[in-house]
Amino acid sequence: KKWDGPVTEVYSPVLVPTPEGLKRKLIGTYPIGTEKEANEALEAAVAAYDNGRGEWPKMSLAGRIKCMEQFVYKMSEQRDLVIKLIMWEIGKSLADSTKEFDRTVEYITATIDALKDIDRQSSRFEIAEGVVAQIRRSPLGVVLCMGPFNYPLNETFTTLIPAIIMGNTLLFKPPKHGTLLHYPLLKAFQESFPKGVVNTVYGRGANVTPGLMQTGKIDVLAFIGSSKVANGLKKSHPKLNRLRSVLSLDAKNAAIVTKNADLKLAVSECILGALSFNGQRCTAIKLIFVHKDVADDFNKLLSEAVSKLTPGLPWHKGVNLTPVTEPGKPAYLKECIDDAIAHGATVINENGGATAESFVFPAIVYPVNEKMKLYREEQFGPVIPVIPYESIEEPIAYQVDSPHGMQVSIFSNDAKEISSLIDPFVTLVSRVNINAQCQRGPDVFPFTGRKDSAEGTLSVTDALRAFSIRSLVATKM
Ligand code: G3H
Repeated sequence: KKWDGPVTEVYSPVLVPTPEGLKRKLIGTYPIGTEKEANEALEAAVAAYDNGRGEWPKMSLAGRIKCMEQFVYKMSEQRDLVIKLIMWEIGKSLADSTKEFDRTVEYITATIDALKDIDRQSSRFEIAEGVVAQIRRSPLGVVLCMGPFNYPLNETFTTLIPAIIMGNTLLFKPPKHGTLLHYPLLKAFQESFPKGVVNTVYGRGANVTPGLMQTGKIDVLAFIGSSKVANGLKKSHPKLNRLRSVLSLDAKNAAIVTKNADLKLAVSECILGALSFNGQRCTAIKLIFVHKDVADDFNKLLSEAVSKLTPGLPWHKGVNLTPVTEPGKPAYLKECIDDAIAHGATVINENGGATAESFVFPAIVYPVNEKMKLYREEQFGPVIPVIPYESIEEPIAYQVDSPHGMQVSIFSNDAKEISSLIDPFVTLVSRVNINAQCQRGPDVFPFTGRKDSAEGTLSVTDALRAFSIRSLVATKM
């Protein structure tokens, strides 16, 4: 796509041979994005909303559903191109890119179905003797929607789609890594919805989004990314009490492998949890506590399983490991590993941490302790910190002290032990997985977190509620 004016060049994490050796391939551009352009987009969203009197917020539910159905149809026509762009832009494998596209379409379809049903049972009722009330669900206003690079389509759309369909108007800021893949869909948005409903904002988030918040004209912040950025954006808003936020943020999910665990199962689930999309998921397992009596056996099986993983380019068949997305990530992961080694840990698997430009072979680091970066920081990459524990109070204490509270995975074959662990964790995180990896899906279920991990809940129905308000029209008969 050609743009007038200065642009940001987008380089793929996938390296291509050049006369100067392997290089990141230039795959496209997007506008640098100025504050002036961002403000024009904001004014377009404000005008299209027009205090709830605009064409879109006033449109009947049936009308909005029709537009959304048209959008899904047009989106589906772009399937192959978008999947290709996901692979090139963020380095996700063909299988995972396909899954990301398809689950997004399913999410939209489920949203349409849920919308037809929401509030139906309680839509008209007698509130008091001779007074009939009707529930009206209406939009909130202008939404600033920002998604993450790791699920640039699926996660972004789990806020963007419900926000649109509830009648809000939007400012959409695509992720820095994951802008190009939206181009075919932006066209579909323009063709499916009235003018001003979806307004794209380009540029470095830090340069344009705080200014948008400072205007006080953003009614809802829908943000998936780091809590640091989310808090900064919220603080920029002059009327914090008027701002609603739907946030999905940091996480450092632990797996706990007790001495009663089926170690083979624990290993295969931990590999999926820790290394799917190279560990670049908020729902990834980012720390494994293993009972000291089974630690050696577990580490051996884990190392063997990692050695069988297949690195390759995103479109290679059967590939499990692909290039990491962010250019600075290999150096950051090395820093984490070096820090752990300086504090007494070892990389226990062959080739662990080996890098080749944007490739990082997974490293299993053992034994990790609280002095190390890997204990605290969300590495968001293919490094598996393993901590031996003696008493179950140790992983519980970790979760109590942690600023995060998204998910945990508990591995045990002892039913009594499992039920004794559900209660302590269910009050500390928002999803407890038993003998299974941490993950978000299926997307129709509630997705949230405690402490710094989230604000509000995303699922199909929760998201529809998050982007709307229920009002009562009470009529004396
Ligand atoms: O990073 C967050 C994604 O929504 C993860 O989804 O765990 O189902 O792959 P998933």
